[in-house]
Amino acid sequence: MISQQKTLMEKFKQKIGIFDSGIGGFSILHEIMGKVPSVEIDYISDDAFAPYGEKSDSEIIERSSFITEMLLNRGCSLIVVACNSATAAAIAGLREEHESIPFVGVEPYINVLNHHPGIRKAAVITTELTGNSVKFNELKKKIDPASRIQHISMPGLAAIVEDILDSGLKEEYRIHLTRELEPLKDLNLSHLILGCTHYPLIAGLIQDELNVVTVSPGPHVANRVFDLLSSPQGNYCSNFSFMCTTTMRWELRTREYLNSLLKYSSAEQDS
Ligand code: DGL
Repeated sequence: MISQQKTLMEKFKQKIGIFDSGIGGFSILHEIMGKVPSVEIDYISDDAFAPYGEKSDSEIIERSSFITEMLLNRGCSLIVVACNSATAAAIAGLREEHESIPFVGVEPYINVLNHHPGIRKAAVITTELTGNSVKFNELKKKIDPASRIQHISMPGLAAIVEDILDSGLKEEYRIHLTRELEPLKDLNLSHLILGCTHYPLIAGLIQDELNVVTVSPGPHVANRVFDLLSSPQGNYCSNFSFMCTTTMRWELRTREYLNSLLKYSSAEQDS
């Protein structure tokens, strides 16, 4: 009994490290903060090296390893790779490099096919790196062997999300967004699987443009983190530590700040 309690205490003491190329990983952080009882969280936005989706696998592998080292040096004992591109390119190598550390990655929730048999027509959108990756293509083949889900790479969409969240929904960004989503317009989709963590942050705008139900993996990632951490008691986190690699300065950010960045995210979301 005592040792069981000790294990629980140790689990509660765990500190979670999360990273993405930018603030896209906030779509995952938000789900984790709403699910996991109070733990410390460090978030790195690797804006000095963004966007990840246009880089080569070897660049992302090297960079992910560097960012992971920073998080481990701050005492993180569980790492969430809150980026589909970095998960596709680097998570296997990170797991090999740090055998005792649990890594949780993010992949497009193609499995929605098995949970919503009524889906009329679906597509999955990703960065170019994710779309070209072996990991994504194997996952898609396994879950969707008949290729019912169309895949489309969106080269500029993550950057548009950063612009909108940084400076508001200016007319020029709205025009960029409409142009970027143009290839999806005539597909007459019922569901759109968001295969980059930036996209759920503007799910509301995407839904307005395309009249689709969006599908995000965030709740499943949070469940996985929860299972790895602890029992369901305790208060939820009210803040987290945040650092961009352009400034290399750690700051405390509140849940309210996070919520303020979710104003374009509300849409009819399936998961
Ligand atoms: N948010 C990331 C992803 O999920 C990367 C976006 C980017 O930097 O290209 O793929």
